[in-house]
Amino acid sequence: MSQPLQNDLYLRALNREETSRTPVWVMRQAGRYLPEYLKVRKQAGDFMTLCSTPDLACEVTLQPLDRFNLDAAILFSDILTIPDAMGLGLHFETGEGPKFSNPVRTRADVEKLPIPDPMDSLRYVMDAVSTIRRELNGRVPLIGFSGSPWTLATYMIEGGGSKDFSKVKGMLFSDPESLHMLLDKTAQSVISYLNAQVESGAQSLMIFDTWGGVLSPENYREFSLRYMQQIVDGLKRESDGRKVPVVLFTKNGGQWLDIMADTGCDGLGVDWTTNLADARIKTGDRVALQGNLDPSVLYGSPEVIKHHVQKVLDSYGPGPGHVFNLGHGIHQFVNPEHLGVMVEAVRELSTR
Ligand code: CP3
Repeated sequence: MSQPLQNDLYLRALNREETSRTPVWVMRQAGRYLPEYLKVRKQAGDFMTLCSTPDLACEVTLQPLDRFNLDAAILFSDILTIPDAMGLGLHFETGEGPKFSNPVRTRADVEKLPIPDPMDSLRYVMDAVSTIRRELNGRVPLIGFSGSPWTLATYMIEGGGSKDFSKVKGMLFSDPESLHMLLDKTAQSVISYLNAQVESGAQSLMIFDTWGGVLSPENYREFSLRYMQQIVDGLKRESDGRKVPVVLFTKNGGQWLDIMADTGCDGLGVDWTTNLADARIKTGDRVALQGNLDPSVLYGSPEVIKHHVQKVLDSYGPGPGHVFNLGHGIHQFVNPEHLGVMVEAVRELSTR
């Protein structure tokens, strides 16, 4: 039996219900800016061991909640677990980010990719979800997540991070059918992965489309949004008698917020290049909005941070449906105390 939620502000805001204040959490809230995270990662040996050891993944998930008054927990894992489970051989080279030993380059590579069974090769993620849910004991809701098919495909084809996306865009323009086959297989994998996270205890879902913003409007619809739509349509949207809200986040996707809202998702992540008042107009208040403080504001003084928190709250304006967050992940070299200043400012300044 799961404990009733003591703090459901996050779920209520995503349902656009009235809340006593604006809920807040932060992308990458568990991570390298926290000395206690670095300690556990060192103990684990490397990042993937940390992800695949449920007790350690649970410990680092809870670290930011023990330090700050956050209104949601996010599963400690990575979007690249799916390609790893498809056999691409994920590894992290220090200072260089993720790399795949077996990137996808040809039609034959795409054809041989399996759709992973989440209870088999991704079982460690489900075990982390259920462990975290048990240890949270109803404190705040748990967010599960995955990458968007387009964003996963960029890493799978490039073999790691990229600046110009020459290989994935090369396939887009020279062999779009193979790319579509890869995106479809990835979307099917994401659907069963996220549904398994919900069955294991995730109470809300977020889809990270970090690289959708590098596409032209026409290609965004065809190669990114279409597959996020397939996912939204395939997800379990209720669990334990409660709605499981789904949030889509396309970094640099401000111009597409209207068509993203058309997917039937519950919320949209917004980065700092779009004003929240404009985002509300563009989406016609049909969905909740999550964001959008520039992560670099946390390099400023406490006064500067409070000032910019107020500006974000003002830009959203009155009415329900706002979840406060950064516009992208928290930077590695931010002073953790500055995040505390931000969280307390949101609580104080948004109390109604
Ligand atoms: O938000 C959280 O606290 C939950 C954990 C989480 C991580 N990655 C942990 C992580 C989440 C939600 C992600 C998502 C993710 N991973 C995305 C989408 C969101 C975004 O940031 O745009 C992407 C593109 C990845 C792929 C990835 N994983 C990259 C590019 C890197 C290297 C990052 C870097 O700056 O070097 C990772 C590794 C990673 N994932 C770390 C963490 C805490 C750092 C690993 C370390 O300890 O060295």
